[in-house]
Amino acid sequence: MAVGRRDKIQSIRGSRIAIAIVIGVLLGCVFAFLFPHGFFTPNSPIQNPRIVTSNVQTGTSCESPERVNMLKSDMASLSDTNAGLKKRVRELTEKLRLAEQGQDNAQKQVMVLGDQHKVGPFGTVKALRTNPTVVPDESVNPRLAKMLEKVAVGKELIVALANSNVKSMLEVWFTSIKRLGVTNYLVVALDDQIVEYCKTNDVPVYKRDPDEGIDSVARTGGNHAVSGLKFRILREFLQLGYSVLLSDIDIVYLQNPFDHFHRDSDVESMTDGHNNMTAYGFNDVSDEPTMGWARYAHTMRIWVYNSGFFYIRPTIPSIELLDRVADRLSKQPNSWDQAVFNEELFFPSHPGYEGLHAAKRTLDFYQFMNSKVLFKTVRKDARLKKLKPVIVHVNYHPDKLPRMKAVVEFYVNGKQNALDAFPDGSEW
Ligand SMILES: *[C@@H]1O[C@H](CO)[C@@H](O)[C@H](O)[C@H]1NC(C)=O
Repeated sequence: MAVGRRDKIQSIRGSRIAIAIVIGVLLGCVFAFLFPHGFFTPNSPIQNPRIVTSNVQTGTSCESPERVNMLKSDMASLSDTNAGLKKRVRELTEKLRLAEQGQDNAQKQVMVLGDQHKVGPFGTVKALRTNPTVVPDESVNPRLAKMLEKVAVGKELIVALANSNVKSMLEVWFTSIKRLGVTNYLVVALDDQIVEYCKTNDVPVYKRDPDEGIDSVARTGGNHAVSGLKFRILREFLQLGYSVLLSDIDIVYLQNPFDHFHRDSDVESMTDGHNNMTAYGFNDVSDEPTMGWARYAHTMRIWVYNSGFFYIRPTIPSIELLDRVADRLSKQPNSWDQAVFNEELFFPSHPGYEGLHAAKRTLDFYQFMNSKVLFKTVRKDARLKKLKPVIVHVNYHPDKLPRMKAVVEFYVNGKQNALDAFPDGSEW
């Protein structure tokens, strides 16, 4: 009992001290408010002469020396508080300024992605490039989610859109994939005939519910409407958490493509370029002689990415890309999807425009080979002829089916002269 009472007395004493501290702090705040520049700032004008005068009077006329010392130390601690408050105000003002200028975006990004870091030594600094994948959302399309669980390998798969106009090319396409033992591929059928065709050939096929809005586009729309549809369908795969290798069907597979991606970017795409410069980018110097001393202007150039063959990871920038492209194709029906795809990927932010912040990688143009590289360069070069590409995309030539078959003859069946009969380019 005695112990209990002592505790009680102590706690009362304790709370009295606490109350005293609170009162002290409150008083401090009041003083800090009234004297924002402190009591003893020699060269700043006195903010509130009336109160200061009364304080000085009490200090000089009728207080004991201890009391004066106490007041002095109180004042010292008050000016400390003052400095702290001023610092805080400065910080807030700075934040406000940054926010007003919209320059705190980088800061916000840091807040999303993690802690701020000090910079390491010269040559050791690397920016973020691999964006985190989205949280899979099965509710977007439960039927597709079920199908992908069975078809995908390592949460990735090849996806191609096809209608019955391209049956014969589709056969070369899936035969080349099957030959490699690759099982994670899926045909998105745009009509019932192609569904039947895939089923009879044991090809994984998916057809959207015909009542769903975007499928009316597939039935009635022209080429461009279908290309817009491609980006909308792709979005669902990404929302379900899968990486997709979007593939046209005028492509022959010669190695498992999934052994050749880096998976460090939002988009890894094959290029329409045909050598180091055009595929990977170069400084194209333009010349305007009338400008005299400044006649040379340096420009950045790169051949477009091929929107018929790209590997896309399920990230926010990837989905934003798909949305931007689909949106522009719906608003500008005469635009070419590949041009739009590249403009969205590459054009930087500028007045009135917010650019996409997506990481991109150009795939090796000898591994992911377009038909210009094959027919203009590779087939004529003894050394390059010996390399086996991962895929060949017959994108540069209208006689697609015979060239696809020739590619199979050359690379699969070893027929050395299989490519010889074709001209470099099409002869209209
Ligand atoms: C193209 O780039 C590769 C890799 O950087 C290099 O090995 C090759 O020699 C280059 N080819 C030409 C023709 O410059």
